[in-house]
Amino acid sequence: MACDDNKPKIGIGLIGSGFMGRCHANAFGAVSGLFDLPARPVKSVLADATDEIAAAGARALGFARATADWRSLVADDAVRVVAITAPNVLHEPMALEAIAAGKAVYCEKPLSTTAASALKMTEAAEAAGVVTSVGFNFLRNPMIRLARDIVSSGEIGEVTGFRGRHAENYMADPRTPHSFRTDPQGGGALADIGSHIISMARHLLGPIAEVSADCRTIHSERPVSANSADRKPVAVDDMTHALLRFASGISGSIEANWAASGRTMDLSFEITGSRGAVAFSQERMNELLVYSGSGARAGYRRIEAGPSHPPYGRFCPAPGHHLGFNDLKVIEVAELIHAIMENGRCMPDFREAWEVQRTVEAMQTSSSTREWVSV
Ligand SMILES: NC(=O)c1ccc[n+]([C@@H]2O[C@H](COP(=O)([O-])OP(=O)(O)OC[C@H]3O[C@@H](n4cnc5c(N)ncnc54)[C@H](O)[C@@H]3O)[C@@H](O)[C@H]2O)c1
Repeated sequence: MACDDNKPKIGIGLIGSGFMGRCHANAFGAVSGLFDLPARPVKSVLADATDEIAAAGARALGFARATADWRSLVADDAVRVVAITAPNVLHEPMALEAIAAGKAVYCEKPLSTTAASALKMTEAAEAAGVVTSVGFNFLRNPMIRLARDIVSSGEIGEVTGFRGRHAENYMADPRTPHSFRTDPQGGGALADIGSHIISMARHLLGPIAEVSADCRTIHSERPVSANSADRKPVAVDDMTHALLRFASGISGSIEANWAASGRTMDLSFEITGSRGAVAFSQERMNELLVYSGSGARAGYRRIEAGPSHPPYGRFCPAPGHHLGFNDLKVIEVAELIHAIMENGRCMPDFREAWEVQRTVEAMQTSSSTREWVSV
């Protein structure tokens, strides 16, 4: 039987073929088989830093063409979506050029290196009317949708507190070298992974109005590159603790820590309410813990992900078989295609990512002034 090829095609131009580039490419490849979309993404052009890397990436990831010149990818008529997975400092020039060419932009987080730059990108995208999406993929988890529903429905009563954390261990070893993640322009644990828990806090409980933060560098020097004996100082945080006051008046705290020995993906939170609580960790991303009951029956209950938690059923008809990290990216891509074809807004968009970035910056300011700072 011939395959249904009547759907419109959306050409994808992917910049970068590293960790996130592969993840984007595989999501664009898988999404049509899992979701009923109004259009079919087609892997058109892949750009990377050199011809060799771009050609190898295009071959491995199934793109029709490769280039070492991301500007030619943006200008390519076959490309309708520009997916940016290059280092943070390149996000602004790449996105602005794509917006000027009228392309939809799917950019990795953090949106840029400063809040001013993120706002410039946001305003350009809104003026041009292009769809934007930012890779806060953890928000796509069906268990997060459930947590949000439970909180907003009042099931746990009035919310009284939020405790959030994004802790990993990938920079715990002082021999781990510098990379774009330690670039003084927009690097650091707070920007890199703190942005994820800030986006989660906003997604669950709304805007954050004020912060008081302490940013700390644990390892003051790192090798300039892998296996190098040359070391240079680290100018960004390894660990940040912050107190938060949400616009709603709820108070809480977050920790961003990329040197957390023993933790691999603890993007976690606990939201307490007057009648119950919810708790989650990405290390057990197919579970939501919900506290309810009273007296001898009070306790945390574990809800396991299944087809009754959309869009889990798109991936598997049976509960308990588990989604994975890459599936979150597939969901993200499905929502992007819907937004492009149905002229909608894809959340989190550039404006939301700018809100996250200004929260990061308010925390950095608070840490240096030792004062509470309004976001
Ligand atoms: N959403 C998430 O969960 C998540 C996870 C990891 C990284 N990220 C974000 O993704 C982005 C990339 O991170 P990564 O871990 O994939 O990094 P990476 O180093 O693995 O990949 C970066 C890619 O960009 C390419 N590149 C560098 N300069 C380029 C240029 N001038 N033109 C074209 N390509 C160029 C590199 O060659 C490489 O292929 C960052 O913004 C990071 O914060 C997001």
